[in-house]
Amino acid sequence: MVEDSILGFLQNNEAIPDSHQFAASIGIDHNELENVIKSLRGFEIVDAQEFQKDRWFLKEEGKTYAREGSPEVQLFNAVPPEGISREELQKKVNPAVFKIGSSWAVKKKLVEIGRQGVSRKVEHVDDKVQDFLQQIENGDVVDEKDLAELKSRKLIEFRPLKGYSLRKGPKYVLKRKKAATDLTREHLLRGDWKDLEFKEYNLAAQVQPIQIGYLQPLLKVRDAIQSIFLQMGFEEMPTNNYVESSFWNFDALFQPQQHPARDSHDTFFLKVPSSTRDLPEDYVAKVKHVHESGNYGSLGYRYKWKREEANKNLLRTHTTAVSARMLYRLAQQKSFSPKRYYSIDRVFRNEAVDRTHLAEFHQIEGLICDRGLTLGDLLGVLEDFFARLGMAKLRFKPAYNPYTEPSMEIFSYHEGLKKWVEVGNSGMFRPEMLLPMGLPEDVSVIAWGLSLERPTMILYGIDNIRDLFGPKVDFNVIKSNPICRLGLQ
Ligand code: PHE
Repeated sequence: MVEDSILGFLQNNEAIPDSHQFAASIGIDHNELENVIKSLRGFEIVDAQEFQKDRWFLKEEGKTYAREGSPEVQLFNAVPPEGISREELQKKVNPAVFKIGSSWAVKKKLVEIGRQGVSRKVEHVDDKVQDFLQQIENGDVVDEKDLAELKSRKLIEFRPLKGYSLRKGPKYVLKRKKAATDLTREHLLRGDWKDLEFKEYNLAAQVQPIQIGYLQPLLKVRDAIQSIFLQMGFEEMPTNNYVESSFWNFDALFQPQQHPARDSHDTFFLKVPSSTRDLPEDYVAKVKHVHESGNYGSLGYRYKWKREEANKNLLRTHTTAVSARMLYRLAQQKSFSPKRYYSIDRVFRNEAVDRTHLAEFHQIEGLICDRGLTLGDLLGVLEDFFARLGMAKLRFKPAYNPYTEPSMEIFSYHEGLKKWVEVGNSGMFRPEMLLPMGLPEDVSVIAWGLSLERPTMILYGIDNIRDLFGPKVDFNVIKSNPICRLGLQ
């Protein structure tokens, strides 16, 4: 109804010069009026100009007098025409009124206080103080000279005040239709949708935060990387087994049994069940042979390969164990077909936990298996893959893995950190790994791996891995993390 008052007033008047006066004139609080003004302004129904001017306001004492009258007049009114004793008068008014009122009433020559008691000096008084206070309260203009006494009695104070002046806006109407927010089945059935005015979308409106599940940054980055692989034509490998045998995790990868990574200082071995039940026997025999005495032009490691060592169960230390299983599976097919495989999943290493290391983390792994692949293919795929991740500048450094030759560490120049950071490891799988599986001799496999945590920490500006993963993660950080936009940062 406040809205009707504003629109009705503007129908007959050029403007509402001061929203405070208007609020007082229709007897509502200015805050309430302001809300209506903002809504009307939003729809351009009114044109509202904000202004700020300094104004007199009543202080608490002034407000009391505006309501109840000035103490001197209250005191005067308590004195009957025939006079009254001090004691009697004191009983009739409250102590503050008696104290302040009597001194002002004497000063203003309204009453006389003598030995006999208190008597009136005039017949009647108008309460000017109360009148002025009420005018100020209503935002009316009061003469400067009339303010003097109120100021000296500290009943009023000067403060800035924000208000509005209003005129009709371009879309002014006397009565606004309630804008519909939805087109419903009922509207369609009744046919009244034709006459409806729909509320416009406010794309700048702040929305309520969504109170549903939130994605962990690792999951957001995993999703983004997954879609890069899919765009590049890769298929996902099944990584749903954390427990692996040493055979697939190490032996199949031509990693000798004395290798330090196979120590319990680096790897979590399982107590129950401590060893695997079945392995493909033909293939195990070929792996044993290539470790012990080589084959396919290799001398092998020349040590006694132990089956018990290969049987030991562990928590996989890299997803390359899954890649080995997949390549073996591919080699069992009647005729070879090229493949692009990827995986992103969890691995475990028995490491001391610090700012950059946890005992479990996630690996991203990609591989391409085809005839006649070269190191040039690997370099090209890495350039393409990492560019899609937003890392266009790469450098490679020769490295060593038991299962790849050649092997390369991958570095990327980080514009924010202004330095080269290691982002991954790569190589071409060795013939000692591929040929025992039964893959054709001219088939090569190029592969690379990186952690999911490293790019996530860089993307989200997290410098302690424990703030990203594990029990110390702040749930509010998870809630408020932005979406992941790879390649755009
Ligand atoms: N498995 C390696 C690691 O754990 C990564 C890698 C994968 C290296 C494939 C070369 C080829 O770091």
